[in-house]
Amino acid sequence: MTKKYLASIFSPSKYVQLLQAELAKYMEVESLPIQYREFPDKESCIRLEHEVTGKDIIIVDSLDNPNHKILPLLLLSETLRNYGAKKVGLIAPYLSYMRQDKSFNDFEGITSKYFAKLISNYFNWLITVDPHLHRYKDLKEIYSIPTKIVHAEGAIANFIKDKIKNPVIIGPDMESEQWIAAISKPANAPYVVFNKIRKSDVDVAIAKDAKSDSMNLEKYKNHTPVVVDDIISTAHTMIEAIKQLKTAMIKAEPICIGIHAVFANDFYQELQELAAKNIYTCNTIIHDSNGINILGDIAKVVPTMF
Ligand code: R5P
Repeated sequence: MTKKYLASIFSPSKYVQLLQAELAKYMEVESLPIQYREFPDKESCIRLEHEVTGKDIIIVDSLDNPNHKILPLLLLSETLRNYGAKKVGLIAPYLSYMRQDKSFNDFEGITSKYFAKLISNYFNWLITVDPHLHRYKDLKEIYSIPTKIVHAEGAIANFIKDKIKNPVIIGPDMESEQWIAAISKPANAPYVVFNKIRKSDVDVAIAKDAKSDSMNLEKYKNHTPVVVDDIISTAHTMIEAIKQLKTAMIKAEPICIGIHAVFANDFYQELQELAAKNIYTCNTIIHDSNGINILGDIAKVVPTMF
């Protein structure tokens, strides 16, 4: 395999170096420094430090805070292509704009589709970690380029097995059952799935109807509850799930695990103050709560894109 080049605009250099070290187990890879700055009027100025003719470029940048990041990344891809790069792939450990997968209100844009179209027009391939697939079953439904999904369930299961005594895994909503079930087996832990009702961006409730497995918590009173969700954004899903655990008189301090630490505004502090001291996330988005390293799992699939 010919040498590949790793570039980034927004990821901290330590993060890029860690990924490069993981990638080096599978391929020859060198970093491609990019000079990026904003002009006083906030337009982007991008300059490559080396020529890229005929080279395969891998860009690694998570797409949290997407409106701020996407235009510079598209401009970078176009710059690389303009100077002769062979292919430009994107590793976006967190892929945004996946939740708007239908029109929830009259005439609302299905932005997941439009965002996928943009990315597909500017990159040759995409790797991401557990995108929020709900109504879409596969990224192929909206992305027209080759895509690969890395699953965090193995890393999370190992973390639970190694660090948490007598765990019971809690899925806060029906959608979470897909990854909760996959984690509980290797983690050797039982699981319970709640039935969440979302009323608004920051208003969620856990249903107390007969369908909800929250009724079954009785037998887990002496377990350590571990609430696992894919995205923690406003953290209200986590907060409500934990309230439910407290009502059920579970004794041990709850633990929260999220794949993607989106944490809008001050919601990380709010979650710590209101619900859980122990919060761990995967390093798909750089955050103080990162405790589960996923870069090795990402590196493993990169060779399959060439
Ligand atoms: C729901 O669709 C997702 O799986 C997460 O439960 C949701 O994104 C969490 O959002 P928040 O932290 O804002 O409650």
